[in-house]
Amino acid sequence: MAEWLKNAIFYEIYPQSFNDSNGDGIGDFEGIIQKLDYIKDMGFNALWLNPCFDSPFGDAGYDVRDYLKTAPRYGTNDDLKKLFDECHSRNMHIILDLVPGHTSVEHEWFKGSMKPEKNEYSDRYIWTDSVWEEPEGLGCIRGISDRDGSAAVNFFSMQPALNYGYANPTKPYQHKPTDPAPMATRQAVKDIMKFWLDMGCDGFRVDMAGSLVKCDPEYKETIKLWRDITGYLKSFYPQAAMVSEWGEPQYSLAGGFDMDFLLHFGPEGYTSLFRSEKPFFSKKAQGTPTKFSELYDISYTSAKKYGGLVCIPSGNHDMDRLARFRDEEELKCCFAFLLTMPGAPFIYYGDEIGMEYVENLVSKEGGYGRTGSRTPMQWDSGKNDGFSAADSKNLYLPQSSSPDRPTVEKQQADPDSLLNEVKKLTALRHANPALQSYSDFEFVYCRDNCYPLIYRRWCEGQNILVCVNPAGEERTVTLSFDINGKIIYHLKKEPVINGKTLTLAPLSACCIEL
Ligand code: GLC
Repeated sequence: MAEWLKNAIFYEIYPQSFNDSNGDGIGDFEGIIQKLDYIKDMGFNALWLNPCFDSPFGDAGYDVRDYLKTAPRYGTNDDLKKLFDECHSRNMHIILDLVPGHTSVEHEWFKGSMKPEKNEYSDRYIWTDSVWEEPEGLGCIRGISDRDGSAAVNFFSMQPALNYGYANPTKPYQHKPTDPAPMATRQAVKDIMKFWLDMGCDGFRVDMAGSLVKCDPEYKETIKLWRDITGYLKSFYPQAAMVSEWGEPQYSLAGGFDMDFLLHFGPEGYTSLFRSEKPFFSKKAQGTPTKFSELYDISYTSAKKYGGLVCIPSGNHDMDRLARFRDEEELKCCFAFLLTMPGAPFIYYGDEIGMEYVENLVSKEGGYGRTGSRTPMQWDSGKNDGFSAADSKNLYLPQSSSPDRPTVEKQQADPDSLLNEVKKLTALRHANPALQSYSDFEFVYCRDNCYPLIYRRWCEGQNILVCVNPAGEERTVTLSFDINGKIIYHLKKEPVINGKTLTLAPLSACCIEL
């Protein structure tokens, strides 16, 4: 286990849109460096950087052309190394986005594999033996080269699937995960990881981590594969951290990942909190916390079993912004929850000021409906909200034009802003070990269709009751024990405590140290 995860609070940066230091309309490494003090001051002590490697950007960089070279638009490998060093000098950590499931069609490996003559890369991807045969369980690319075969696709059509084998091969073109070709792919991924760790990064967020071995419904072979890769990695770098985009911690953590996310795909428990038709976190109070708690119980049990973490993100580059259909008071309740739960919180850039989902944008770099969540950060009242000195028509994406759109500058000046509430909450988490990543958790009050949500967090020497009432109305509940303690945090209004009974104001939250 990486020691630093004990109290890590991650900040996800979509590099295109964070801060442009050279006026070309797109964010870059130097721009991130310039904002590290802001990030640190917010209490975020770890970064996840979305893919920043050479790419034709058909899927925002998730279509890698060269794993060992940064995209020139962000800077050079040396600039990225400088970013690592600048993070470390502030006692912060940084993880990169690893995309092991597929590459761009422009990657040299794929170009090699398209050749009809046998070569080193012929089996680096999944190719059938005839252009008329489709790969089992997957879409395909075909008719684009002289090789007589179809190449399996992992996501968009220009993202061919790398070959890690099939769990139970039944066709001649399908390899076992331990056959020489899939083992060579695996080794190539290990080499890539080692390359960046040697340069100073602190680990990886792994894209579509559950997708590597094909037709593996129970993930048995995928788990074995990840155990091998994470084991290798930890043998060199015991402090490296790995978080999977998998969404099912019972599998990913068994594979040796330190962390997994709850996500908008897979089981619906996460969605029911923030992004369903009737989300629990809404002042309309028409949601229920129990879809989440059912999923969370399973996930948390796995976390305990494997010594890993289940991470609940505020959002990410694939989801609607948290602020879509939500006002500032509602957002504060969301953060009171996100920053007091176990696991390492992951906050998506701009969510700390309630950046809106920008509606009706034309898709950019394969974003489609995700594009509105990827717009440039709103820093201040300067040109392009301080994001870039470029002409606004040259920005990576247009910014929100709403006159009351939030900026960091405005919110820093307002003690009651969302930004300042988030800062208060990160400070609370840093100051109280019971609220940190690995400390214990149990639901205390979590009922079907009922508000509030109450849970207990504890560790040796500290015991904290967390109460969150996202409803737009006051709620009173009676617990099974006398509530005696000190209120160490409250949002909006202190709770009224009377023996076993607790009354929470609308849209309020509190932490009581028992
Ligand atoms: C993951 C990424 C997403 C990308 C996809 C394909 O889900 O988060 O942005 O499009 O994988 O790599």
